[in-house]
Amino acid sequence: MAISALKNSALEAIQKAQNLAELDVAYKAFLGKKGELTLILRSLANLSEAERKTQGKEANELRNFLVERFAQRKQEIQIGEIGKREATEHVDVTAPGKRLPKGHMHPLTLVQTKAEEIFQAMGFTVAQGPEIETEWYNFDALNIPANHPARDMWDTFWLKPKNAGYLLRTHTSPVQIRYMESHNPPLRIIVPGRIFRYEATDASHEFNFYQLEGLMVGKEVSVANFKAIIEEFYHQFFGKPVAIRLRPSYFPFTEPSFEVDMRWGKGKWLEMMGAGIVHPNVFRAVGYIPAEWRGFAFGMGLDRLAMMKYQIPDIRLLYSGDLRFLQQF
Ligand code: DAH
Repeated sequence: MAISALKNSALEAIQKAQNLAELDVAYKAFLGKKGELTLILRSLANLSEAERKTQGKEANELRNFLVERFAQRKQEIQIGEIGKREATEHVDVTAPGKRLPKGHMHPLTLVQTKAEEIFQAMGFTVAQGPEIETEWYNFDALNIPANHPARDMWDTFWLKPKNAGYLLRTHTSPVQIRYMESHNPPLRIIVPGRIFRYEATDASHEFNFYQLEGLMVGKEVSVANFKAIIEEFYHQFFGKPVAIRLRPSYFPFTEPSFEVDMRWGKGKWLEMMGAGIVHPNVFRAVGYIPAEWRGFAFGMGLDRLAMMKYQIPDIRLLYSGDLRFLQQF
């Protein structure tokens, strides 16, 4: 095809292209690897020198010209597309915003955080320990030797093989041992954490739940100190003074041991926690000299606290993952 005819048909194709895809097809037809003009430029080598001079000049000029025209048309198309969008799409800047769904704190998290704040203000440090424990920390070091009937107080998930001595901790008390092993008295800690019991579930039982352990060791720590601290804790936690009473009980790791009841509603007593004065054998297990130190310890259920504070009727709701429940907090 003669150069001038080629020019006309290329310009026509450029003008006809209505979008970038069509323009690209046209570009390839003329300037692509096998485009018409490209082929002419390649064939120049076969011409005589005189012909090459004139035709080469013409063809190269056309090439530069077309490259520019393609670029112009490309810009035109792009501007046109933006204009089209501006003409058809509307942004209503006065429309009310969309409400993004917000997460909620789990009631157990709320209760744990509040309890930590109250105890930290009274000088307690928050400590932690593993959920998979050894028989030693969960039982023996707490003065509960193998075959002692007290082990039946905790229905235990043993990990296989059983004789390896690994279990899911049945209480947060093993963290008392771990902490005392690595810290010297005097000390004050609380230990919030998840625990596991091998038992059937119902409205007031779960096979896993949360405890808050407490331990205070010093030269002259007494039951009176314990009672004052726990009364202060409940006062702050429930926002009003509450009556508590200590009832004699038994735990292998404390002597004496007691159960703490709290007066709830119209004179009903509710069992809130186990507690006592740290047993000398527990101090021996961590290398403290029993004659030199005195301590109190306690372990309360955080689930029970959450259920009381928020009037939750069934412990299983706390572990249901049901948004209708969780969104209320
Ligand atoms: N570990 C006990 C339980 O899970 C609760 C408890 C009782 C903890 C007395 C203590 C304590 O620290 O002194 O049943």
